[in-house]
Amino acid sequence: MYAIIYGKNPKLSEAEFWAFVRRFGLKVKVVENSMHWIVFEGDKSIERLFHRLGGSLKLVKIIGEGEEAIKDLDYAKLFTVSLYGKDDWKLWRKLGSEIKKNFKSQGPSKFFKPAKVYAMPSELILKGFPEVKDFVFFFSNRVYVGETITLTDPFELKKLDVKRPVQRTILSIPPRLARIMVNLTEIRQGNFLDPFCGIGTIVQEFLLQGLNAYGSDSNPKAIHGAKENLKWLKREFRIKRGANIEVCDARKLKRCFRVKFDAIVTEPYMGKPLKYHPTKEEAIKLANELDRFYYSVFDSFGDVLKKHGRVVFVFPAYKLNDGRIYRKERKWLEKLGFGVMARYTDFEERHRVVRDIHVLKYR
Ligand SMILES: C[S@@+](CC[C@H](N)C(=O)[O-])C[C@H]1O[C@@H](n2cnc3c(N)ncnc32)[C@H](O)[C@@H]1O
Repeated sequence: MYAIIYGKNPKLSEAEFWAFVRRFGLKVKVVENSMHWIVFEGDKSIERLFHRLGGSLKLVKIIGEGEEAIKDLDYAKLFTVSLYGKDDWKLWRKLGSEIKKNFKSQGPSKFFKPAKVYAMPSELILKGFPEVKDFVFFFSNRVYVGETITLTDPFELKKLDVKRPVQRTILSIPPRLARIMVNLTEIRQGNFLDPFCGIGTIVQEFLLQGLNAYGSDSNPKAIHGAKENLKWLKREFRIKRGANIEVCDARKLKRCFRVKFDAIVTEPYMGKPLKYHPTKEEAIKLANELDRFYYSVFDSFGDVLKKHGRVVFVFPAYKLNDGRIYRKERKWLEKLGFGVMARYTDFEERHRVVRDIHVLKYR
């Protein structure tokens, strides 16, 4: 039995997890489900594949049920305790000292106290995971006791972003989200294209996942940056395969690419940065203007996609001046042959433009 802890956008992380389960044909039976984590029966391959998830933090192996299961934990010189489900400070202390008591006969051990009632991956890595063990408790209908066996490495994700030779802070997409979007396609392998690739964040992810990677952008400077970044990625991450990168207008893809694609994953041009939160009327106007552009872009996608090809596309939605979010409905997608399978939002508090991520299937 395993458990997975979701990241900061748990709804999106959960959607990614299920898309990932289908993508890799994993067998998963839910035991307990909550907004922030899931306990499930599943095959061992999850241990090998976990690092491919962008939106989850920890993979936990469940060793027992009930508080007595503490006795089955393996001795650790250094350890932490993470509680999920019930934020109970007293319980946290009790479990920590009980584990310590259990370990006593095997020599001294040190208990480090995480910043919250649970340890974050960055804390654990800095303390020395896996030498520092993370014992995990889930409080729901029952108590589950486990040990973290794999973490998402936030330092690696950061390196993929800020250590690249070419940066474009405002415009580029977080590597974490690029990974989530690739999983949302549910396509395991094949030809993947980002037709608004900028400096290449999503194309990097295609390469890291061993996919046939293609990228294009209408701005030659961005393409130059993407090529530099991909050279760096190949060196740093020892990747043999290269990517196909072209200067191309996303409305004219068939002029640039001969191959047909299994999936398109992209964050397009989303309009000029907004200086303030728009009113609903202003947001409708902005969205309508951009839709003319997106219509020709999707028309062009139809030229280069395989039958049943998938598209994961970020449309802009808007945080309005009254705090609500305006998300436009786009009936024209259906007319062009694209069925909307799912929609998810992703945004940071300070953002005015919200990501309205669409997962679409071509007829
Ligand atoms: C939001 S950025 C994409 C950023 C990219 N995900 C990254 O991480 O660098 C949008 C990109 O769309 C490009 N763009 C704008 N209009 C375009 C068009 N008609 N065809 C292709 N690319 C276009 C811009 O040059 C810009 O690099």
